[in-house]
Amino acid sequence: MQIAPSILSSDFARLKEEIESIKNCDMVHIDVMDGHFVPNLTFGAPVVKCIRQYTELFFDCHLMISNPLKYAKDFAKAGADLITFHYESDNDPKEVIDEIRRLGCKVGISIKPKTEVEKIYPYLDMVDLILIMSVEPGFGGQSFMSEVLDKVIKLKEIKQKENKKYVIEIDGGIDDKTIHQAKDAGVEVCVAGSYIFKQKDRIETIKKLKAV
Ligand code: DX5
Ligand code: ZN
Repeated sequence: MQIAPSILSSDFARLKEEIESIKNCDMVHIDVMDGHFVPNLTFGAPVVKCIRQYTELFFDCHLMISNPLKYAKDFAKAGADLITFHYESDNDPKEVIDEIRRLGCKVGISIKPKTEVEKIYPYLDMVDLILIMSVEPGFGGQSFMSEVLDKVIKLKEIKQKENKKYVIEIDGGIDDKTIHQAKDAGVEVCVAGSYIFKQKDRIETIKKLKAV
């Protein structure tokens, strides 16, 4: 299992040290919220640019924002490796995908718990990653919604049958128990925020989660 700790649950005043404490992860999950697409605010591209100076780790930027078409460039310039946008945002998904590619980043598409997975079928060949939300986006520390695993099962079936290249990621409520359900359904990358950042020894925690 690949592990993507979400720095949403970290101490923002000590981001450099917090990232150092998770350095054995597969990618750093960066939750960008605009107070419009979701009812919470976090940080923007300037913060991504600052932390980029201190690590070579892969940056998985999860844009929970309206108008990702307008802002993708800022995140690419700031050092994002992968930019994931929401299908439910106000832009045409195909246009956002093309723009992120043009910027030289990998592309992810995400859907909220209530959005049917069939809605993103037209884009399966165009993206590197599909992010299934297992909580309503906006806040860390919520409970895992196991009903979204049906979407993962469908995506895994299509991936195997049609030899698709996308990676399946899940985000929200992942801990040492729910990660097993995710694994069984076919998830390849687990985002985990509050569970990892509440541990003293994060390196060891990530090691254990990776072994699932
Ligand atoms: C929710 C964010 C998640 C969140 C995960 O809107 O996209 O990445 O930080 O946090 P936990 O692991 O605490 O559910
Ligand atoms: Zn996220």
